[in-house]
Amino acid sequence: MARHLITSAIPYINGIKHLGNLVGSQLPADLFARYQRARGNEVMFLCATDEHGTPAELAAAKAGKPVADYCAEMHELQAKIAHDFRLSFDHFGRSSSPQNQKLTQHFAGRLEEAGLIREVTEKQMYSFADGRFLPDRYIEGTCPNCGFESARGDQCDNCTKQLDPTDLINPYSTVSGSTELEERETKHLYLRQSEMREKLGEWIDSKHDWPVLTTSIAKKWLNDGDGLQDRGITRDLDWGVPVMKGDEPWPGMEGKVFYVWFDAPIEYIAAAQEWVDAGKGEDWERWWRTDKGADDVTYTQFMGKDNVPFHTLSFPVTIFGSGEPWKLVDYIKSFNYLNYDGGQFSTSRGRGVFMDQALEILPADYWRWWLLSHAPESSDAEFTWENFQTSVNKDLADVLGNFVSRVTKFCRSKFSEAVPEGADYGPDELKLIEELTARVRTYEKHMADMEVRKSAQELRAIWVAGNEYLQTVAPWSTFKEDPAKAAVQIRLALNLIPFYAVLSAPFIPDAAASLLGSMNAETTEWPDDVATALTALPVGHEFTVPEVTFRKITDDERNDWQERFAGTRG
Ligand code: 2FM
Ligand code: ZN
Repeated sequence: MARHLITSAIPYINGIKHLGNLVGSQLPADLFARYQRARGNEVMFLCATDEHGTPAELAAAKAGKPVADYCAEMHELQAKIAHDFRLSFDHFGRSSSPQNQKLTQHFAGRLEEAGLIREVTEKQMYSFADGRFLPDRYIEGTCPNCGFESARGDQCDNCTKQLDPTDLINPYSTVSGSTELEERETKHLYLRQSEMREKLGEWIDSKHDWPVLTTSIAKKWLNDGDGLQDRGITRDLDWGVPVMKGDEPWPGMEGKVFYVWFDAPIEYIAAAQEWVDAGKGEDWERWWRTDKGADDVTYTQFMGKDNVPFHTLSFPVTIFGSGEPWKLVDYIKSFNYLNYDGGQFSTSRGRGVFMDQALEILPADYWRWWLLSHAPESSDAEFTWENFQTSVNKDLADVLGNFVSRVTKFCRSKFSEAVPEGADYGPDELKLIEELTARVRTYEKHMADMEVRKSAQELRAIWVAGNEYLQTVAPWSTFKEDPAKAAVQIRLALNLIPFYAVLSAPFIPDAAASLLGSMNAETTEWPDDVATALTALPVGHEFTVPEVTFRKITDDERNDWQERFAGTRG
């Protein structure tokens, strides 16, 4: 049994995420976690809310709430929606947890002892109108690298370059809009990432199997003259992890907090401690410490492309620099962006479909299927209502749903709600089993490789194969001349239903569970041997004809939804 540690980038606390966020990390991570569990492997799947930094402070201010209360409420809400989307985290933690606070301070202490932190007196942007320094998202301006006009103080969303507020051209305060800013002196801690250029380079060069999207971004910033410059890891903010050297105060750093991107990835580890402290498990170190059993763990991270620099450069510096045996990531699966109907999804402008709204109109499986089968892997992808309608109606309703309904209803009307006794398999049955065997092996390979779209295509082909078989052998015609032959055809077709449920569960877990329920199928074992799996329901096994598995989306609904989600969120 292999052991898989899986993390999804932790979503910012500032509001409910849109479908573009979901497909960029949490959903594909869930697909992989569910697949690995289904194959009998041991999985630790972690995520959390990213609660510090300017995104949290700004959103709380907008909501008129103390930031701690805002975060606690939003965490519960995000946890509920994640559950409703069937994201199967072993733990959904909080980066503001005491565990993360302690661990972040521990890492900072280790980095300081290793000589990887230096104190810098620097100029930061101070706003007269706001009466404060403007770190990160408190400030925007034009990106010096690509010219994008609303680059934030910490990173340009357009070209992914990590920035400092003082790099921005024509900067302005995002709180007041004021451009009356001046550079003022303040003292901060810098992480000496540049010391590790060589080590990081060798590490990334050794990852031949990583997606090109991941390695190209990593190499771009590693080799670009200033991509790996030393970066400030502290901020003049109230909300965050207080700057301490382990348990010791850090002279001169009173009242300052660590930068959100310093403590956020450390939460991957702290979430496992939270999992233990919540009584869900016993030993977190066997997942995270190579000296305590994690040496045989395979660790995979999922994230959108804008997160790649932090996970390939900054966080590994923290891990390497600590000099302690922490588990380092083995594989980074990154995604491009999902666009919405001719433009971008936008949280600030409320453009697109948000996770809670999606579930108000259709169950999770409909969204999971569309999003995963259109995952933005090799390039950006686009959500359109037409495409969504087509996919749902064709793949889910016509191919899978219709197969289930035809087979079970035919059996009920000609035999009974039980698997009928019949003849032996003929050439058509053997041919189907052969095709399915080949396709299941391909599906397994794509799932193991995290080729999300290819996996969806292969799964669909597996559903199609059943339909084609049914079309070819046509039990409704066979039945007139040879009921025993029709019975074996139906017996095989009925057995395809739990077989499909098990294979499809990582994509559409609720539909899979309800199909297994209708078929009274106890076995949820992976079909290592397809022929055997297709005998799981023996002659005489009773079932009930399932309710509609997937319904179709009408043109009227499509038009309504398109209109409803075009504007700003209410
Ligand atoms: O981009 C984001 O949504 C960040 N909150 C991701 C953080 S991932 C990690 F570092 F924890
Ligand atoms: Zn840019």
